[in-house]
Amino acid sequence: MNIIFLGAPGSGKGTQSALLVEKHQLTHLSTGDMLRAEIAAGSALGLQAKAVMDAGELVSDEIVIAMIAQRLSQATGVLFDGFPRTLSQAQALDALLAEKGLSITHVIELKVDSEEIVSRLLARGRADDNEQTIRNRLNVFESQTKPLVDYYNAQGKLHSVVGVGSVDEIHAQIERHLS
Ligand code: AP5
Repeated sequence: MNIIFLGAPGSGKGTQSALLVEKHQLTHLSTGDMLRAEIAAGSALGLQAKAVMDAGELVSDEIVIAMIAQRLSQATGVLFDGFPRTLSQAQALDALLAEKGLSITHVIELKVDSEEIVSRLLARGRADDNEQTIRNRLNVFESQTKPLVDYYNAQGKLHSVVGVGSVDEIHAQIERHLS
């Protein structure tokens, strides 16, 4: 299985990824986690990414595609969390997988309304979880990432799940789509 979690910031991608990775022994590739690791390490890339992330904008396609390409060479059975986020990233991922004779098997869309997201993220309080940045992240999601719903629906790979309710119930619904 090669799975993508598609959903707005705070829709529960990271939370649900952790459950699936453990159950199905998948490699978890989160571009957000990779970028935060670069920031923590104080690398040049991290410094560049921090300003972009703090503003709630997207880091360049070139940087995130290179990070994924580097890790994909050793991976089998991957869960992509927060990647792809643009049409260019989705097309690059399809090409990278095709080189290995692989493809995406499932795209799980987590649907959560904006006000629920704002209250979840304000309660969490990560560096990019202030109201102004959250609202910009939501706008960026609508304009740049939401079109991927149509992209994967056209490939017959899209599974939509309501991401509101208990974490276990949402996980159970995702499992039903995977089986
Ligand atoms: P990233 O790290 O991917 O963050 P995000 O998409 O904004 O998502 P979050 O981590 O905020 O939320 P999530 O959906 O994982 O939800 P979670 O499970 O944590 O990206 C951060 C930034 O990095 C981007 O803004 C961008 O700048 C950059 N970036 C990353 N990838 C990129 C890419 N591919 N291209 C370009 N730039 C990129 O849950 C959120 C909260 O809700 C938690 O507190 C959790 O406990 C709670 N929660 C979870 N489930 C439930 C539930 N069912 N009910 C109630 N609360 C819940």
